[in-house]
Amino acid sequence: MIASPKLKIVEELIATSTREELAWISGYLAGIAAQKGVAVAPTAPDVAAPAKAGKITIAYGTETGNSKKLAADFAAKAKKNGINAKLVSLDQYRINDLAKEEYFVTIISTQGEGEPPAAAKKFYDHIHNNGFKLEKLKYGVLALGDTSYPLFCKAGEDVDAQLGKLGGQRIASLQKCDTDYEADADAWFGQLLQSVSSNGNEAVAAPAPPVKTTGKKTYTGTILTNIDLNDRGSAKETHHIEIDAADVDYLPGDALGLIPHNDESLVAEILAVAGVDASKMHAYKGEEVGVSDLLRRRLNLIHMPERVVAKYAALSGNNIPETRMGLLDLLKIYPLKSSDQFREVIEILEPIAPRLYSIASSPEAHSGEIHLTVARDKFCINGEDKFGLCSDFLARLQEGSTFDFYIHKNGAFRLPEPEKDIIMIGPGTGIAPFRSFLAHRDATGAGGRNWLFFGDQHFVSDFLYQTELLNWFDTGVLSKLNVAFSRDQKEKIYVQHRMLQHGKELFEWMEGGASVYVCGAKEPMSVDVEAALVQVVIQHGGKTKESAEAYIAAMKEADRYLKDVY
Ligand SMILES: Cc1cc2nc3c(=O)[nH]c(=O)nc-3n(C[C@H](O)[C@H](O)[C@H](O)COP(=O)(O)O)c2cc1C
Repeated sequence: MIASPKLKIVEELIATSTREELAWISGYLAGIAAQKGVAVAPTAPDVAAPAKAGKITIAYGTETGNSKKLAADFAAKAKKNGINAKLVSLDQYRINDLAKEEYFVTIISTQGEGEPPAAAKKFYDHIHNNGFKLEKLKYGVLALGDTSYPLFCKAGEDVDAQLGKLGGQRIASLQKCDTDYEADADAWFGQLLQSVSSNGNEAVAAPAPPVKTTGKKTYTGTILTNIDLNDRGSAKETHHIEIDAADVDYLPGDALGLIPHNDESLVAEILAVAGVDASKMHAYKGEEVGVSDLLRRRLNLIHMPERVVAKYAALSGNNIPETRMGLLDLLKIYPLKSSDQFREVIEILEPIAPRLYSIASSPEAHSGEIHLTVARDKFCINGEDKFGLCSDFLARLQEGSTFDFYIHKNGAFRLPEPEKDIIMIGPGTGIAPFRSFLAHRDATGAGGRNWLFFGDQHFVSDFLYQTELLNWFDTGVLSKLNVAFSRDQKEKIYVQHRMLQHGKELFEWMEGGASVYVCGAKEPMSVDVEAALVQVVIQHGGKTKESAEAYIAAMKEADRYLKDVY
């Protein structure tokens, strides 16, 4: 026991200290007592022992920024818990460091048809193709995905399994997350941190437990307007679609996801060729569904992947080349043994994958509505006109008809602070998110300047949203508007040519802190636009090619050069 004046000092110190400070003080006093040869009382104070400061690398593989954002949140959380966290993108990660890691956490999304994001491809290939050992590695994988896709979280699954095969030890089981990932991801990382704090003593040796998915929120929208924005004589058909959908939570930059339906006539033909009664019921995912409805709304029937064709070959007893095919062609060329076998065919078909469209409206400006800009995808096969499944589905939706959708959050394509300048480069349907940005900035009175580069084939027929854009220019919402109509003159002129023409001012805006946004075709547009940006920095910033590329890379890193390309 100590005398009361001293006790008062101790009590005061305790009252004004945080848990971490108390933990430190307790350790400090115990150390001094031990030095003086004093036995420390067995009853420890009621505070958590200081976490053993581990070192953790958090590496993300992202396409649209969700994994990056989550990884940054995790790194901040780890640091708060006294753990030294290193945050790195998988495309910047030095693969030789893997064998030296103490704790390695990776957050990786799945893209394409079950593939890793482009930025994670090198890492993914390296761990799969090189036979090295990672016996010291303690790791955890969080996989981001979307349950609507047939290969849900496939890239994350592969990375988790492969690091295990190479000898790594799991500190947390694989966590697969759907599009509403925040809560699951947070809980998973909390557990993982505990494991790291206890110095890996709680390592999970067993393979991953059953997946926990929460499912996403879906909405039903009603079509208010569906008009073709292109004028007579255009080679294109771009639909402006307004959807009535109250209480939908979205932000400018987000996309709308939907599952398109198959064409009714295709379904009817498939059933006729297979000799199946359209009114037949089929048990599918725990519910009884009419076979016609199942084929129309849920299952992918066109351009089916090789793995499905291989399964069809096995069940129908046919020798079929390894190639993608549609179900109708398969049934016609390689008939089933009997119409009863169609039940087995249904079991091997995969769900229709969702499609994403950048939202062209702003919740501030178009309350209760969502607008889309959809180019009807038209192509020719064997002299026959064909349309893309989803754009055709949307283009043909009549006023008053309904369809289901969900919101795909795009945290990596957000407006900056209201007073910051933005440069938007969005030819064709790439204009969609910029209509949302401009409407939002107009409605909220944001002070930053807005500069738009738009382009298409012809001024007369393809100047999408012309009236609105010119109106925004007249009212000063758009400070600058530069357009490029590629086919109105002999020489093709594209947005990147306009950027080069206005390079001096463009560089001044960039130097002044403007953010650059690009939306539209990944190739060749976004590649050419990036080359033009580098050129602008070389020419007007007096830099070498290398340092101009570094300048653009630094803008990317600072979230001031953002892309939504497809
Ligand atoms: C073109 C495209 C293809 C996708 N393919 C898959 C897929 O095959 N499997 C899956 O689980 N998720 C798939 N997704 C969903 C993404 O993994 C999911 O949206 C994720 O949150 C994206 O994270 P990121 O922003 O870090 O890339 C796909 C998304 C897009 C845009």
